[in-house]
Amino acid sequence: MSQSRKLYVKSFGCQMNVYDSRRMADTLASHGYVETAAAEDADLIILNTCHIREKAAEKVYSELGRVRRLKQAAAVENRRVLIAVAGCVAQAEGEEIIRRAPAVDLVFGPQSYHRLPMLLARAERDGRAVYTDFATEDKFAHLAPPSAAATRARGACAFVTVQEGCDKFCTFCVVPYTRGAELSRPVQSIIAEIELLAEAGVREVTLIGQNVNAYHGMGPDGGPWSLARLLERAGVVPGIERLRYTTSHPHDMDDELIAAHRDLPKLMPQLHLPVQSGSDRILAAMNRSHTRADYLSLVERLRHACPALALTSDFIVGFPGESEDDFAATLSLVAEVGFSGAFSFKYSPRPGTPGAEMPGQIDEAVKSERLQRLQRAIDECQAAFNRSCLGRTFDVLFERPGRHSGQLVGRSPYLQPVQATAPASLIGDIAAVTITEIGSNSLFGALAAVGPRAAVTRPAETVLVATGA
Ligand code: SAH
Ligand code: SF4
Ligand code: F3S
Repeated sequence: MSQSRKLYVKSFGCQMNVYDSRRMADTLASHGYVETAAAEDADLIILNTCHIREKAAEKVYSELGRVRRLKQAAAVENRRVLIAVAGCVAQAEGEEIIRRAPAVDLVFGPQSYHRLPMLLARAERDGRAVYTDFATEDKFAHLAPPSAAATRARGACAFVTVQEGCDKFCTFCVVPYTRGAELSRPVQSIIAEIELLAEAGVREVTLIGQNVNAYHGMGPDGGPWSLARLLERAGVVPGIERLRYTTSHPHDMDDELIAAHRDLPKLMPQLHLPVQSGSDRILAAMNRSHTRADYLSLVERLRHACPALALTSDFIVGFPGESEDDFAATLSLVAEVGFSGAFSFKYSPRPGTPGAEMPGQIDEAVKSERLQRLQRAIDECQAAFNRSCLGRTFDVLFERPGRHSGQLVGRSPYLQPVQATAPASLIGDIAAVTITEIGSNSLFGALAAVGPRAAVTRPAETVLVATGA
């Protein structure tokens, strides 16, 4: 393979999809590929796709139209451009992609990333190919570790995949089909990766997985380790100051992990805990394996362990059979929990999932109207939470220059973007900031002190919401 070919990778999906794109770029870097941000300069274009909702899946076909024209333009100059489709659409649709988009040279699913250099060489030699087998070997062991230079370029916060796949089979969801069965990486390979990241300046690590709290990877002692134990170990890596994990399923939120929120000071007081619906009837139809009462009691135990905890969630509106009463139960759950933010989606029937075949599919107009009402309720909760931050002092991890000169932007423990006047030397560091103003998308603050950290205390308004007062 000739030296220094140019690679363009575009992610369309979740944090794990973004992480996979980085690891593919790392692996290809050791085979002479240099990343470019301009698709028109690339010799290899990888579209890393998402299949979660119809809109996400369709995006790839419009992008393929654009890159096909780039490929044709390059061919006029006698330059060969390879187009590869990776990710969950690749896994779900395989051959169909090549039928719909003949310009594609290679289609490969998430379980083939470590074989990418070999697959590319084969596609170049033998023509179009599709690889969607589930791997039998340890993919992560074969992916190249990130180089120090690449890691430094990525800043103070990083994601690390610790678990992949899902065995839960919620009836709306494609993930068990596109990512396969649950699999946990061994502790030592995760810690080695975090050590590399920390040496390159990373201060905050988010452990990610489709069902991250089902983590049960092999520990150095040969036995399975829980996520709580892994978090504790990650927290002693020199340089790591903050830990998060996402996404969790309520069913796997055990006592040990709840206690970690009380006992691990580096574990940030923010948890993404998708509930999907507030109605027991819909939760059962979704095969979620938790009821509304289970969820509320879990929230109570979490807040008891960590009074400063803020919760975010995911919701689906218009699942088959959802009545106005079911939807009202979702709205009331939002108010009862007092989320600091949430994502909400219209139900999208996905081919091959049980939900797509269920009777009682809901009209698009009804879904849109419910989504609007739910988003209003969520926005109110989020605004109340943000208002409760006014006047408080938070540790902020500064990530990059802010909108105006002399300003930096970073994240609070609750993941809110915070803008403050601060010297550029603080990028990559944590400093205490007192919140002076609440904007629509970020908080504004003034540097309180460099050095001793601010204690995170529970905002007053959350206390009221949480106790139902
Ligand atoms: N593993 C995570 C979620 C993965 S998908 C979990 O278990 O929570 C992220 C979110 O997309 C889900 O929480 C759900 O709210 C939404 N989602 C998944 N499938 C969907 C579908 N068919 N239609 C609409 N939203 C969907
Ligand atoms: Fe999908 Fe449910 Fe698994 Fe989450 S837990 S990835 S929603 S099947
Ligand atoms: Fe999408 Fe696959 Fe992630 S379907 S949400 S890219 S696991």
